[in-house]
Amino acid sequence: MKRWLQAYGLVLASLAPLTAAIANYTPLSSSTSPKYSVGIPPGSTISQSTKGGIYISITAPTSYQWVGLGIGRQMAGSTMFVVYADGAGNVTVSGRNGGQGHNEPALDTSLMTGVTVLAGSGVANGVMTAFVHCTTCTLASTASSTSSPWIAAWNEGSSINSKSLSYSISQHGGNAFRQFSFDLTKSTLSSDSNPFVASSPSPPSKVSSSGASLNPTANPSPNPTSSSSSDPDSDDPDSQSSSNDFTPDFKTIEQYLKAHGIIMGVTVVLLFPLGSIFMRTVRHPWIHAAIQIFSLCAMIVGLALGVKLAQFTSMLFNNSHSIFGVVVVALFMIQPVLGLIHHHLYTKTQSRSIFSHLHVWYGRILMILAVLNGGFGLRLAANSKKGEIAYGVVAGFIALLYASVVLLKRRGGEGGGRRRLGVFGKRDKDAGQRDASS
Ligand code: HEM
Ligand code: HEM
Ligand code: HEM
Ligand SMILES: *[C@@H]1O[C@H](CO)[C@@H](O)[C@H](O)[C@H]1NC(C)=O
Repeated sequence: MKRWLQAYGLVLASLAPLTAAIANYTPLSSSTSPKYSVGIPPGSTISQSTKGGIYISITAPTSYQWVGLGIGRQMAGSTMFVVYADGAGNVTVSGRNGGQGHNEPALDTSLMTGVTVLAGSGVANGVMTAFVHCTTCTLASTASSTSSPWIAAWNEGSSINSKSLSYSISQHGGNAFRQFSFDLTKSTLSSDSNPFVASSPSPPSKVSSSGASLNPTANPSPNPTSSSSSDPDSDDPDSQSSSNDFTPDFKTIEQYLKAHGIIMGVTVVLLFPLGSIFMRTVRHPWIHAAIQIFSLCAMIVGLALGVKLAQFTSMLFNNSHSIFGVVVVALFMIQPVLGLIHHHLYTKTQSRSIFSHLHVWYGRILMILAVLNGGFGLRLAANSKKGEIAYGVVAGFIALLYASVVLLKRRGGEGGGRRRLGVFGKRDKDAGQRDASS
């Protein structure tokens, strides 16, 4: 059933450009990135010199204080829309003029005479959505340009909660702005109506963000995948495309992100290393095996959550974190087999085999790769500096602990000390001396 719906969604998604097209831009690869879309209605007079109609969608999580979209190459002289929460469940859309450049853009009252905030706008599920119709806008290119210059900027922080159009916003960060282009040939609408909501006169309550929408272009929910469907070959490499049929809201995505991040983080930074340290200190192979197999199960749960998350956010196999992650988890699957073979041979011969060294070193290297991949994941999600630091500190501490345990307990062989001679007898003797002298 689900498959059929998905196939149906795919077909509709591929037909979508024939009915209405919207150009999209997503500046950050994170699932919580602001998103911008524009559509030009048929017959619009909009050009570089003439005012005319254009539809604009700006969405972002409420973790942003304000998000802005501007028409032009740089702040100076551009026409900007700054969106923030109005404190009453809706958004304030403030049309501004870039003026001389690197200062706060001032309210543009003549622009505002043609700016309408459309139905479907609001603050819901932790997301600010602004659907805007502007009839007093001009472009910085022709209306058929394939690379029309636009700018974007955003600022994280607590909600502004003001209906004032001239609210004094604080400056964006040093990398919280972009200069990009829209391919306007991909933004031609079939009718002069809000392209971001279903054209049928449906009540806003139908505008459920978690329900399955079969027509991606008519899905009003500000979810990260559906709005990109009509624009699979946008010239912007950052914009994601997908024909995912079941696209949950930001809340759900953030829950998946949290669950994936916590399970994977705890598994690779704590569980696997502690299970390995346990083998070296307590030296009980079956308890070690039980801990590690449990960890591996946790990792597989984390993998499933990661894949789901990546499907929601169109990040499956288009970034090093998810590709590398799948490879690392797959490589971990071999490790219990190596452990078992080692144990089997060891109980027979009471000495280490090639498999012992494979199990030990393959395991250590894999753990390092997995911890690094968690770091890539945090980078990718880019949602908290504190989280990145905490992760680094805990990982560093465990690595130190591990290294000191390995150095202090340099006895080879399973169960430690029981075995004396073997292929690596020399090293064992050294270790014995070290033990005796300490
Ligand atoms: C060794 C395996 C892995 C580890 C240790 C790991 C760890 C992490 C961590 C710590 C985060 C950040 C979570 C947060 O900020 O709250 C993250 C994000 C993420 N991971 Fe993984 N992960 C692994 C494998 C995978 C795999 C196999 C996939 C998908 C195929 C995946 C997909 C994602 C996605 C899509 C994000 C969110 C990126 C965003 O929101 O922009 N991960 N991961
Ligand atoms: C209080 C409001 C604002 C202040 C004080 C401000 C200030 C600045 C400053 C100082 C820079 C130079 C930063 C650098 O080069 O590292 C800059 C660049 C930029 N800002 Fe803003 N800005 C504000 C609002 C906005 C808004 C609302 C937008 C977009 C809608 C925006 C878009 C940009 C862009 C695209 C750049 C790079 C291009 C350029 O230099 O113009 N800014 N801004
Ligand atoms: C995903 C599962 C597993 C992982 C990640 C893992 C990881 C490790 C690591 C990293 C070490 C080296 C500890 C050190 O630094 O000294 C180790 C040692 C060992 N593991 Fe595992 N292990 C796993 C499963 C198993 C299983 C199923 C067994 C079966 C009994 C096993 C038996 C052993 C033994 C006997 C040693 C000691 C080897 C020696 O020092 O000669 N492991 N394991
Ligand atoms: C937000 O304001 C616009 C314009 O007044 C309106 O059409 C829309 O329904 C409002 N949204 C909410 C959630 O009240």
